[in-house]
Amino acid sequence: MRFDNTVSLVYTVFDKLLCGVLLRAALAESSADRYRIENGRAKAAMNYSVEESLAAWNANAEFWDGCMGDESNDFHRETVRPKVTELLNPERGDFILDIACGNGNYSAYMAQRGARVVAFDYSEKMIELAQKRQSRLSGLIEFVTADAASAESLLLLKRDRPYTKAVSNMAVMDIADVTFLFSAVNKLLEKDGAFVFATQHPCFVTLTDKYMTPHAYLGEAIAGQPVKQCYYHRSMQDIFNLCFDNGFVIDGFYEECYKENEIPAVIIVRARKCR
Ligand SMILES: C[S@@+](CC[C@H](N)C(=O)[O-])C[C@H]1O[C@@H](n2cnc3c(N)ncnc32)[C@H](O)[C@@H]1O
Repeated sequence: MRFDNTVSLVYTVFDKLLCGVLLRAALAESSADRYRIENGRAKAAMNYSVEESLAAWNANAEFWDGCMGDESNDFHRETVRPKVTELLNPERGDFILDIACGNGNYSAYMAQRGARVVAFDYSEKMIELAQKRQSRLSGLIEFVTADAASAESLLLLKRDRPYTKAVSNMAVMDIADVTFLFSAVNKLLEKDGAFVFATQHPCFVTLTDKYMTPHAYLGEAIAGQPVKQCYYHRSMQDIFNLCFDNGFVIDGFYEECYKENEIPAVIIVRARKCR
């Protein structure tokens, strides 16, 4: 009997220790991931902060500018630009906000088509390089350092008139928190204004082992870049609902492939301000 009790005590202690270890491992995993569900919707509680992603983009800015040059790379030229331009149709008389503009190549393209442009990026290094590269168009493009994840920073982009259009090329998946971006762009646009954005396809490119839950991970945009950058995965319904919840309807949509590939790399969305 005593022997049985001792054995059962040992088992109980072992059981509790094991449970403790497993529980600690589970807690460590959930706090590392920092995912949460609110009101039945996955909420972007990403595990890399704006500061961490900014440090990476400042470190990569010169490399990025060197790779993009004046013409951008063939991925941008072939897979991103044609459908973005079709949906955005930048033209004379437009006043366009270029969100996360990188080295300003697309801002320059819009300016050459006759638009006035305010272009921003949170990397001060990138903005410095964009100003230098696009200096011949300085009268048409205003380059600004601003953070697309900050409501205050975004509202400072308000100018003498509402924007007719807004564009973001390949950056929504790089922005730590896009909640404020969609509501601020809605406020900054004129009635019926269009917000066109291209971002990595969430079903095929930013997909990891999780699809439904927003999460961040480290990756490389261009082979050989100095440091890895932070990517932020959001499901298609989260991206679409950001538009619907912030006063937009979607009235244009493409999935674009790179070269002959049958798996699309990019989604291109036109969100039209409806309220
Ligand atoms: C892949 S690059 C695209 C640049 C440019 N739009 C293009 O197509 O060449 C992503 C850009 O997003 C910028 N970015 C990332 N998070 C941002 C944020 N929170 N606010 C503003 N810019 C951000 C980065 O600095 C980088 O220039």
